[in-house]
Amino acid sequence: MNKITAAITAVGGYVPNFVMTNKMLEDMVDTNDEWITTRTGIKERRVLKEDEGEGTSYLGIKAAENLIDKKGLDPKEIDLVLVATATPDMFVASTAAFVASEIGAVNAFSYDLHAACSSFLYGMSTAAAYIEAGRYKKVLLIGADKMSSIIDYTDRTTCIIFGDGAGAVLFEPNSEGFGLQDEYLRSDGVGRNYLKMDAGGSLLPASVETVQNRQHFIYQDGRSVFKFAVSNMADAAAEIMKRNSLVDNDVAWLVPHQANKRIIDATANRMGLDNSKVMMNIQNYGNTTSATLPLLLHDYESQLKKGDNLVFAAFGGGFTWGANYLKWAY
Ligand code: UT7
Repeated sequence: MNKITAAITAVGGYVPNFVMTNKMLEDMVDTNDEWITTRTGIKERRVLKEDEGEGTSYLGIKAAENLIDKKGLDPKEIDLVLVATATPDMFVASTAAFVASEIGAVNAFSYDLHAACSSFLYGMSTAAAYIEAGRYKKVLLIGADKMSSIIDYTDRTTCIIFGDGAGAVLFEPNSEGFGLQDEYLRSDGVGRNYLKMDAGGSLLPASVETVQNRQHFIYQDGRSVFKFAVSNMADAAAEIMKRNSLVDNDVAWLVPHQANKRIIDATANRMGLDNSKVMMNIQNYGNTTSATLPLLLHDYESQLKKGDNLVFAAFGGGFTWGANYLKWAY
């Protein structure tokens, strides 16, 4: 009997309608389009406004519905719904449970998975493990974040980077060898000093003081995070190529986390890849945290061919990082 691998068999995506341009940010903080473009590659990002929807679940539901429509999938067949997110609708109540109910996945169980910008990368590992073990046949993995809910729009070092969005993929068993081939995943708790939201968790519960001190917003020591991100993301991508004996010509696409174009360029450079093989939509959406990787698949789906070798790479808060190697199945 052939070994069962976990393949991505469908993709969906969603970004909110409201476009926040660099020009608009110029009116909010001391910045300019030229600085943002040259330092990050970002031109605009999407923001979920109150009149369009509410929390992260709204984005996840839209992305899942897009996948379900495209695939013609009966949601009752879904076994498990995973929502990878750093911005759940609320603590305690699972965002994934609400998403599953709203999309009609009434036979599924569901839970959230949180590893900051690496949530989707780690989620691929979780989804694939269930499929490879033969436990479940249809696992819906959603990456969704409403970053605007934790952004301080008076802090020019962070507000320019992030945006809102969601992407979804369906993992199913494959007996022809397509799907997830290998993963290299790492974490290091030293990173929590450099990229975090101080208050609102068990360490520093919400109080009048934490609100007054603006501690419910994301804080980033950008320069330090940048240094860790450049070396670790590139190292992880190079390592996964090495241990699978992949050379540049074997890789059809790099699917990199969209935090900063300079980090993406450094990773591609280390892998010896031409720009034409690097998926990129940072210019349109900025950093959507857990949604960057599935949104790339959504945007590039029509260019993907069966058998393409994809290398996913991400770096994020925690720190968390790694690279996955996947063979495209359709
Ligand atoms: O996805 C999760 C992981 N996150 C990341 O991977 C993000 C990693 N970090 C970054 O992408 C970059 O560090 C940033 C885009 C956040 C910042 O870029 P940078 O090139 O590292 O800038 P910097 O922090 O070294 O600041 C350079 C200068 C400073 O001025 P001085 O001290 O040289 O006078 C900043 O005050 O740029 C200034 N600056 C700005 N100027 C205009 C910082 N933010 C801005 C801004 N507009 N928005």
